[in-house]
Amino acid sequence: NANQSLAGQHWVITAGPTREAIDPVRYISNHSSGKMGFSIADAAQSFGATVTLIAGPVNLATPSNCNRIDVQSAENMHEVALEQTISADVFIACAAVADYKVAKISEHKIKKTSTNDEMSIELVKNPDIVASVAALKNKPFTVGFAAETQDVEHYAKGKLARKNLDMIAANDVAKQGQGFNSDDNALKVFWHNGSIDLPLTGKRQLAEQLVVLINDRMQDD
Ligand code: PMT
Repeated sequence: NANQSLAGQHWVITAGPTREAIDPVRYISNHSSGKMGFSIADAAQSFGATVTLIAGPVNLATPSNCNRIDVQSAENMHEVALEQTISADVFIACAAVADYKVAKISEHKIKKTSTNDEMSIELVKNPDIVASVAALKNKPFTVGFAAETQDVEHYAKGKLARKNLDMIAANDVAKQGQGFNSDDNALKVFWHNGSIDLPLTGKRQLAEQLVVLINDRMQDD
Protein backbone atom coordinates (compact mmCIF):
# COMPACT_ATOMS: atom_id res chain seq x y z
CA ASN A 1 0.00 0.00 0.00
CA ALA A 2 3.05 2.25 -0.31
CA ASN A 3 2.00 5.62 -1.68
CA GLN A 4 4.88 6.89 -3.78
CA SER A 5 3.46 10.31 -4.68
CA LEU A 6 6.65 12.14 -3.60
CA ALA A 7 9.07 9.78 -5.38
CA GLY A 8 11.91 11.70 -7.03
CA GLN A 9 11.54 14.72 -4.72
CA HIS A 10 14.18 15.83 -2.20
CA TRP A 11 12.72 17.25 1.02
CA VAL A 12 15.00 18.96 3.56
CA ILE A 13 13.64 19.42 7.08
CA THR A 14 15.17 21.09 10.13
CA ALA A 15 14.12 19.92 13.60
CA GLY A 16 14.85 20.40 17.27
CA PRO A 17 16.53 23.24 19.16
CA THR A 18 19.91 24.82 18.57
CA ARG A 19 22.54 25.18 21.28
CA GLU A 20 24.47 28.41 21.57
CA ALA A 21 27.63 27.94 23.62
CA ILE A 22 28.45 30.36 26.44
CA ASP A 23 31.63 28.64 27.59
CA PRO A 24 32.92 25.03 27.42
CA VAL A 25 30.21 23.76 29.83
CA ARG A 26 27.18 26.05 29.32
CA TYR A 27 24.77 26.95 26.56
CA ILE A 28 21.55 28.77 25.67
CA SER A 29 18.76 26.64 24.19
CA ASN A 30 15.00 26.01 24.27
CA HIS A 31 12.42 23.27 24.90
CA SER A 32 12.06 21.89 21.36
CA SER A 33 12.12 18.07 21.46
CA GLY A 34 12.37 17.57 17.71
CA LYS A 35 9.14 15.50 17.65
CA MET A 36 7.31 17.75 15.17
CA GLY A 37 10.19 17.93 12.67
CA PHE A 38 11.03 14.21 12.96
CA SER A 39 7.34 13.39 12.34
CA ILE A 40 7.37 15.51 9.17
CA ALA A 41 10.52 13.74 7.98
CA ASP A 42 8.89 10.36 8.61
CA ALA A 43 5.67 11.36 6.84
CA ALA A 44 7.55 12.70 3.79
CA GLN A 45 9.65 9.53 3.44
CA SER A 46 6.53 7.37 3.80
CA PHE A 47 5.22 9.05 0.61
CA GLY A 48 8.44 8.22 -1.23
CA ALA A 49 10.44 11.46 -0.85
CA THR A 50 14.21 11.44 -0.38
CA VAL A 51 14.51 13.12 3.02
CA THR A 52 17.38 14.99 4.64
CA LEU A 53 16.74 15.69 8.32
CA ILE A 54 18.94 18.40 9.84
CA ALA A 55 18.64 17.85 13.58
CA GLY A 56 19.69 19.94 16.54
CA PRO A 57 20.53 18.10 19.78
CA VAL A 58 17.51 15.85 20.47
CA ASN A 59 16.86 12.45 21.97
CA LEU A 60 15.01 10.76 19.12
CA ALA A 61 15.62 7.79 16.86
CA THR A 62 16.17 8.61 13.19
CA PRO A 63 13.02 7.86 11.14
CA SER A 64 13.60 5.08 8.60
CA ASN A 65 14.98 6.04 5.18
CA CYS A 66 16.03 9.52 6.30
CA ASN A 67 19.50 10.97 5.89
CA ARG A 68 20.10 12.63 9.27
CA ILE A 69 22.71 15.33 9.78
CA ASP A 70 23.26 16.40 13.40
CA VAL A 71 24.15 20.00 14.20
CA GLN A 72 24.53 22.08 17.36
CA SER A 73 24.44 25.83 16.80
CA ALA A 74 22.30 27.98 14.52
CA GLU A 75 25.45 28.75 12.52
CA ASN A 76 26.07 25.00 11.97
CA MET A 77 22.44 24.53 10.96
CA HIS A 78 22.60 27.49 8.58
CA GLU A 79 25.68 26.12 6.82
CA VAL A 80 24.26 22.60 6.42
CA ALA A 81 20.84 23.90 5.34
CA LEU A 82 22.38 25.99 2.53
CA GLU A 83 24.46 22.99 1.35
CA GLN A 84 21.48 20.64 1.37
CA THR A 85 18.94 22.94 -0.26
CA ILE A 86 20.98 23.22 -3.48
CA SER A 87 19.21 20.06 -4.62
CA ALA A 88 15.97 20.40 -2.65
CA ASP A 89 12.39 20.60 -3.90
CA VAL A 90 11.01 21.45 -0.47
CA PHE A 91 12.57 23.04 2.64
CA ILE A 92 10.68 22.94 5.94
CA ALA A 93 12.08 24.92 8.87
CA CYS A 94 10.60 23.24 11.93
CA ALA A 95 13.66 23.82 14.13
CA ALA A 96 13.45 26.24 17.02
CA VAL A 97 16.53 28.23 16.09
CA ALA A 98 18.06 30.58 18.64
CA ASP A 99 17.57 34.13 17.36
CA TYR A 100 20.72 35.26 19.17
CA LYS A 101 24.10 33.73 19.94
CA VAL A 102 26.76 34.65 22.48
CA ALA A 103 28.97 37.42 21.09
CA LYS A 104 32.21 36.01 22.48
CA ILE A 105 32.26 32.37 23.59
CA SER A 106 34.55 32.09 26.60
CA GLU A 107 37.47 29.72 26.05
CA HIS A 108 37.41 28.70 29.73
CA LYS A 109 34.62 28.07 32.20
CA ILE A 110 33.35 31.41 33.47
CA LYS A 111 34.08 31.74 37.19
CA LYS A 112 31.78 32.95 39.89
CA THR A 113 33.54 35.70 41.82
CA SER A 114 32.93 37.10 45.26
CA THR A 115 32.82 40.66 43.95
CA ASN A 116 30.32 40.23 41.11
CA ASP A 117 26.70 39.73 42.18
CA GLU A 118 25.51 40.41 38.67
CA MET A 119 26.81 39.45 35.29
CA SER A 120 25.62 39.85 31.75
CA ILE A 121 26.24 38.03 28.51
CA GLU A 122 26.29 39.97 25.28
CA LEU A 123 24.25 38.44 22.47
CA VAL A 124 24.33 39.05 18.72
CA LYS A 125 21.83 38.03 16.06
CA ASN A 126 22.09 34.65 14.36
CA PRO A 127 21.56 34.28 10.61
CA ASP A 128 17.93 33.61 9.69
CA ILE A 129 18.11 30.15 8.13
CA VAL A 130 14.69 29.93 6.49
CA ALA A 131 14.98 33.48 5.13
CA SER A 132 18.38 32.69 3.58
CA VAL A 133 16.95 29.60 1.88
CA ALA A 134 13.96 31.58 0.63
CA ALA A 135 16.37 34.18 -0.82
CA LEU A 136 18.16 31.61 -3.02
CA LYS A 137 17.79 32.04 -6.78
CA ASN A 138 16.58 28.48 -7.22
CA LYS A 139 14.67 28.38 -3.98
CA PRO A 140 12.83 25.22 -3.01
CA PHE A 141 9.17 25.44 -1.93
CA THR A 142 9.95 27.00 1.45
CA VAL A 143 7.83 26.39 4.54
CA GLY A 144 8.44 28.13 7.85
CA PHE A 145 6.96 27.54 11.27
CA ALA A 146 5.85 30.26 13.66
CA ALA A 147 5.85 29.65 17.40
CA GLU A 148 3.67 32.32 18.97
CA THR A 149 2.14 33.00 22.37
CA GLN A 150 -0.26 35.75 21.22
CA ASP A 151 -1.76 37.21 18.00
CA VAL A 152 -0.83 33.98 16.19
CA GLU A 153 -2.32 34.89 12.79
CA HIS A 154 -0.91 38.43 12.75
CA TYR A 155 2.66 37.39 13.59
CA ALA A 156 2.57 34.33 11.33
CA LYS A 157 1.46 36.36 8.32
CA GLY A 158 4.19 38.90 9.09
CA LYS A 159 6.84 36.15 9.02
CA LEU A 160 5.37 34.69 5.80
CA ALA A 161 5.81 38.03 4.04
CA ARG A 162 9.05 39.25 5.66
CA LYS A 163 10.92 35.97 5.11
CA ASN A 164 9.47 35.51 1.59
CA LEU A 165 8.08 32.04 2.42
CA ASP A 166 5.68 29.96 0.33
CA MET A 167 3.83 28.76 3.41
CA ILE A 168 3.91 29.12 7.19
CA ALA A 169 2.62 26.73 9.85
CA ALA A 170 1.77 28.56 13.06
CA ASN A 171 1.37 26.99 16.46
CA ASP A 172 0.16 28.57 19.67
CA VAL A 173 2.89 27.54 22.08
CA ALA A 174 1.16 29.08 25.10
CA LYS A 175 -1.60 26.44 25.04
CA GLN A 176 -1.28 23.39 27.27
CA GLY A 177 -0.75 19.99 25.64
CA GLN A 178 0.58 21.23 22.30
CA GLY A 179 3.63 22.91 20.82
CA PHE A 180 7.01 22.41 22.47
CA ASN A 181 7.77 18.90 23.71
CA SER A 182 4.21 17.51 23.74
CA ASP A 183 2.99 14.58 21.64
CA ASP A 184 0.14 16.57 20.07
CA ASN A 185 -0.03 19.80 18.15
CA ALA A 186 -2.43 22.02 16.19
CA LEU A 187 -1.46 24.27 13.27
CA LYS A 188 -2.90 27.24 11.44
CA VAL A 189 -1.30 27.18 8.01
CA PHE A 190 -1.11 30.31 5.81
CA TRP A 191 0.04 30.95 2.23
CA HIS A 192 -0.27 34.05 0.07
CA ASN A 193 -3.95 33.64 -0.76
CA GLY A 194 -5.27 31.00 1.58
CA SER A 195 -5.19 29.28 4.95
CA ILE A 196 -6.36 26.14 6.70
CA ASP A 197 -6.73 24.99 10.31
CA LEU A 198 -5.27 21.62 11.19
CA PRO A 199 -6.84 20.83 14.58
CA LEU A 200 -5.20 19.22 17.60
CA THR A 201 -3.99 15.68 16.95
CA GLY A 202 -0.86 13.54 17.31
CA LYS A 203 2.24 15.08 15.71
CA ARG A 204 2.74 12.18 13.27
CA GLN A 205 -0.81 12.48 11.93
CA LEU A 206 -0.56 16.26 11.77
CA ALA A 207 2.74 15.91 9.91
CA GLU A 208 1.05 13.75 7.29
CA GLN A 209 -1.68 16.37 6.79
CA LEU A 210 0.95 19.09 6.40
CA VAL A 211 2.96 17.05 3.88
CA VAL A 212 -0.17 16.41 1.78
CA LEU A 213 -1.05 20.13 1.96
CA ILE A 214 2.45 21.18 0.85
CA ASN A 215 2.32 18.76 -2.08
CA ASP A 216 -1.12 20.14 -3.10
CA ARG A 217 0.06 23.74 -2.90
CA MET A 218 3.18 22.95 -4.96
CA GLN A 219 0.97 21.59 -7.79
CA ASP A 220 -1.04 24.84 -7.74
CA ASP A 221 1.97 27.18 -7.84
O1 PMT B 1 10.24 20.12 18.58
P1 PMT B 1 8.88 19.96 19.25
O2 PMT B 1 9.03 19.75 20.74
O3 PMT B 1 8.05 18.87 18.60
O4 PMT B 1 8.07 21.34 19.10
C1 PMT B 1 7.69 21.78 17.84
C2 PMT B 1 7.90 23.30 17.69
C3 PMT B 1 6.95 24.04 18.63
C4 PMT B 1 9.35 23.67 17.98
C5 PMT B 1 7.58 23.60 16.18
O5 PMT B 1 6.24 23.26 15.90
C6 PMT B 1 7.83 25.07 15.84
O6 PMT B 1 7.01 25.96 16.04
N1 PMT B 1 9.04 25.36 15.28
C7 PMT B 1 9.51 26.74 15.00
C8 PMT B 1 10.00 27.36 16.29
C9 PMT B 1 10.52 28.76 16.07
O7 PMT B 1 11.68 29.00 16.29
O8 PMT B 1 9.64 29.63 15.60
P2 PMT B 1 9.93 31.20 15.35
O9 PMT B 1 8.58 31.81 15.22
O10 PMT B 1 10.89 31.74 16.37
O11 PMT B 1 10.69 31.20 13.95
C10 PMT B 1 10.03 31.39 12.72
C11 PMT B 1 10.67 30.55 11.63
O12 PMT B 1 11.97 31.02 11.33
C12 PMT B 1 10.81 29.06 11.95
O13 PMT B 1 10.56 28.33 10.76
C13 PMT B 1 12.28 28.94 12.35
O14 PMT B 1 12.80 27.65 12.06
C14 PMT B 1 12.91 29.99 11.45
N2 PMT B 1 14.15 30.60 11.97
C15 PMT B 1 14.16 31.35 13.11
C16 PMT B 1 15.31 31.97 13.53
C17 PMT B 1 16.50 31.79 12.77
N3 PMT B 1 17.64 32.36 13.14
N4 PMT B 1 16.49 31.04 11.67
C18 PMT B 1 15.34 30.44 11.24
O15 PMT B 1 15.33 29.76 10.21
